[in-house]
Amino acid sequence: MQKRKLGNSGLEVSAIGLGCMGLSFAYGPAMDRQEAIKLLRGAVVRGVTFFDTAEAYGPYKNEELLGEALAPLRQQVVIATKFGFEFDDKGGQSGTNSRPEHVRDVAEASLKRLKTDHIDLFYQHRVDPNVPIEDVAGAVKELIREGKVRHFGLSEAGAQTIRKAHAVQPVTALQSEYSLWWREPETKVFSTLEELGIGLVSYSPLGRGFLTGTINEDTSFGSGDFRNLVPRFAPEARKANQALVELIGQIAARKSVTSAQIALAWILAQKPWIVPIPGTTKLHRLEENIGAASVELTPDDLRQIEASLAAVEVKGDRYPPELQARVDR
Ligand SMILES: NC(=O)c1ccc[n+]([C@@H]2O[C@H](COP(=O)([O-])OP(=O)(O)OC[C@H]3O[C@@H](n4cnc5c(N)ncnc54)[C@H](OP(=O)(O)O)[C@@H]3O)[C@@H](O)[C@H]2O)c1
Repeated sequence: MQKRKLGNSGLEVSAIGLGCMGLSFAYGPAMDRQEAIKLLRGAVVRGVTFFDTAEAYGPYKNEELLGEALAPLRQQVVIATKFGFEFDDKGGQSGTNSRPEHVRDVAEASLKRLKTDHIDLFYQHRVDPNVPIEDVAGAVKELIREGKVRHFGLSEAGAQTIRKAHAVQPVTALQSEYSLWWREPETKVFSTLEELGIGLVSYSPLGRGFLTGTINEDTSFGSGDFRNLVPRFAPEARKANQALVELIGQIAARKSVTSAQIALAWILAQKPWIVPIPGTTKLHRLEENIGAASVELTPDDLRQIEASLAAVEVKGDRYPPELQARVDR
């Protein structure tokens, strides 16, 4: 697969990474461990070198899974993980915590779970309103100095936060939701990222599955599936948002590719410093998603997609109210 560099940092990764959250967390029960290990190793064989996890996925289980699956292939892969939450006894997130001593403790624990001596990219998962971002950047700077972390990242941070953090420790990548149905980063952060030479890692690039055309208003999600809580996935919103899926489907049919491939190829076509990290639990879909790196969208295709997007108003917030406050800080 082609490679991309995340901003000016020199960190090179496969043009399409693998978001690993759904293997353990968020979209129903965790995968069978051996199957998950097969999928992760199969991704490396197919050219994926960029793997995304977080302390919070499980919590802990997803990092442990990656540790086991990728330890023998460690030299070939870039592993990104995230810090910044507290957890209650049941593993639920009880709040943000990016106090410097906590950042250090999480790094040490993540290194053990990931069975490695360095984290390639260490993101703050959510901006912590109680800790100045300069202190967070300082804590990561120290970890980088010690060789435990190679690159610093932020997730869902706003332009001002990015600037302040970058002044203390250069930021390699911002990880934020960005897709055909969530384009706010274009107006809110793209110019800052471009100016500072920071890459964008686009999460939920398939709209948590919706943009692939495999979900409709009749789809029922299992208990424990995060999408049950997301306003954008409420049945009436899904019904309204189907119009977007249909338009993507038409473009895909004309290009003889799949809707998922259009969704990913469109992201790749926006800027050379964006890397999407679609998640899947299925090898055939992983192959399909990787295939998007070879789909070329012409200026005409891009104009047609742009016109289609302009014709549809996406309904529903992307986070439930209690989590909405944690993004774009
Ligand atoms: N920083 C953050 O706050 C944050 C938030 C959310 C996610 N993330 C990261 O971003 C990664 C990706 O995001 P995501 O998993 O939320 O959403 P996504 O990649 O947009 O969509 C994943 C969903 O799409 C389905 N899917 C994948 N490929 C498909 C295909 N070709 N055709 C049909 N369905 C397909 C998957 O189901 P199957 O498993 O059944 O294929 C899964 O339910 C996560 O794994 C995580 O690492 C980060």
